[in-house]
Amino acid sequence: MCGIVAFTGATEALPFLLDGLKRLEYRGYDSAGVAVVHSEAQGGAPKAALKVVRRQGKVATLIEALSGTEVAGTCGIGHTRWATHGVPSEQNAHPHLDCSGRIAVAHNGIIENYTHLKDRLVEQGHCFTSQTDTEVIAHLVEQNYGETEGDLTEAVRVTVAQLSGSFALAILHAGHPDIVVVTRNDSPLVLGSFEDGAIAASDTPALIEKTRDIVYIRDRDLAVLHGDGRIEYFDPAGEPFVPNVYHVEWSLEQAEKGGYPDFMLKEISEQPRVIRDTIADRFDDRTRTLRFPELPLTDEELADIDRIYIVACGTSYHAGLIGKELIENWARIPVEVEVASEFRYGNPIISADTLVIAISQSGETADTLEAVRLARQAGAHVIALTNVVGSRITQEAQTVLNIKANIEIAVAATKSFLAQVTLLTLLGLYFAQERLLLTGPQIQEIFGEMRQLPGQIEHILADTAAIERAAKACCEATTALFIGRGVGATTCYEGALKLKEVSYLHAEAFSAGEIKHGPIALIDAAAGTPVVAVVTQSATRDKMLANIEEMKARGARVIAVATEGDGRIEKLADHVIYIPPTRECLSPITASVPLQLFARYIAVERGCDVDQPRNLAKSVTVE
Ligand code: F6R
Repeated sequence: MCGIVAFTGATEALPFLLDGLKRLEYRGYDSAGVAVVHSEAQGGAPKAALKVVRRQGKVATLIEALSGTEVAGTCGIGHTRWATHGVPSEQNAHPHLDCSGRIAVAHNGIIENYTHLKDRLVEQGHCFTSQTDTEVIAHLVEQNYGETEGDLTEAVRVTVAQLSGSFALAILHAGHPDIVVVTRNDSPLVLGSFEDGAIAASDTPALIEKTRDIVYIRDRDLAVLHGDGRIEYFDPAGEPFVPNVYHVEWSLEQAEKGGYPDFMLKEISEQPRVIRDTIADRFDDRTRTLRFPELPLTDEELADIDRIYIVACGTSYHAGLIGKELIENWARIPVEVEVASEFRYGNPIISADTLVIAISQSGETADTLEAVRLARQAGAHVIALTNVVGSRITQEAQTVLNIKANIEIAVAATKSFLAQVTLLTLLGLYFAQERLLLTGPQIQEIFGEMRQLPGQIEHILADTAAIERAAKACCEATTALFIGRGVGATTCYEGALKLKEVSYLHAEAFSAGEIKHGPIALIDAAAGTPVVAVVTQSATRDKMLANIEEMKARGARVIAVATEGDGRIEKLADHVIYIPPTRECLSPITASVPLQLFARYIAVERGCDVDQPRNLAKSVTVE
């Protein structure tokens, strides 16, 4: 939610700031702005001043506004916004200024005590021009700057101590024309330096062109970026420290579209590679054992696990639902899957024998992080399953399992979902192995089938004509239903979420057996309501066929995702999308792919921005 960038160096700041904002636009895109320190002739002598340009709308609108405007300067900050306080407008766009117009602040997060701070600042004579929570920070720094006799770093440190809530901040002062002060609390921030300067941003893609050596700072730490490339780090007490540096493995090319019309299609197409990487090195064919060296649990601890909670949001939650079925089935451990925002306000039954698996692609989701904290306080062992090395969740959980999706840029999660499901499948098998519920040969057989999955997905991706035809037939619909049974139903939950988020077509998923208990009333024979049915090989396939008959009898337009060779389904469904045969427990991995493509094709047909759907942001760092 919101992206911030900061640059100070030997070259112009603006190209980096705009490029960085474009790369961070997945975080929010309702307004954007930049502030740069530049030199102004005032009464003859040049004086440093801030040049600020802000616009409502996407970064492209800001770029348009900047063309023909002189925004020269080698030190600056930028922001792309996902509105929380105050409507999307130029006035509410960041950076925000203090009364003097010499301090500029770009902020990601929410300042929870801003009304209290604002009242006090107004009493002290500060004038506010926006409806945002962020503006208090600019005025607070102004106030503290005066009280610290012009020590910007100290003024920011004192300011940070007065703030509660979540924030990543980049702060510029015209009186300090080659430094940017940055800090964070519960919001992401990455930093790096290169030959010609120092940079910071909300996420790595903004930095990767300049450096792949990245620093993450802890909550309320402060960093001062200098134009000569130095970065000074201070803890909340003002003590200097030397941070750890992480090397990013993926490259700039991987953060670009690479010839695809959109990131969503590119990321869907990367899924065979993602699965190959996720399963690589997990199985030892010689000893017929699965390996999870990252898991520190002893055999005894694994045997003692009495309950697993999976906590996550959105798509990651759906991966968790599939994980539950597999873990319970193979390892016979009861699994509860909870939406993280509910888990933290519920009263979960946690003991030392409870294992909590927190799933988060970004590793930044505020609700999931809070759930992790609660679980740890209650004494559970927490495993984080994430796509972002060094992200916040990796610092909070005891154990980290990295999925191998690499950077995911489209707001709608696709490849990260498949990687999460694949890793949870391996985890389910591993728990069963360690609890002696599956033998080496049994696991070897299932793992052997997992090795086929990348090829099977390549096969689905090679011919998408049936998916496109089905999508074209449905793009005028106003509602779509998804039905399945067992893991097929969970696959449908994710399929329906994909459709609604990228195409804005209302979609709901149901367990097929439930549909006649109410939702069947939604089927409108005159409109030919689309019903997407996942009807792959499974113990309940015949029941699914009966459910499809019921839908057809009421005038539904049925789109079936079925197993190659299933002739019976052709007689029932209006459209059949065939996928290669897999055993039921692995079917979510293959069946999800046509559902992702179906959602994308409908979105494209309806003229939607597939990569940046309205109202959404890729990482949800506020509650
Ligand atoms: C949907 C989507 C969201 C995220 C959710 C959790 O396509 O991307 O539903 O899955 O916001 O995000 P993470 O996994 O980053 O915690």
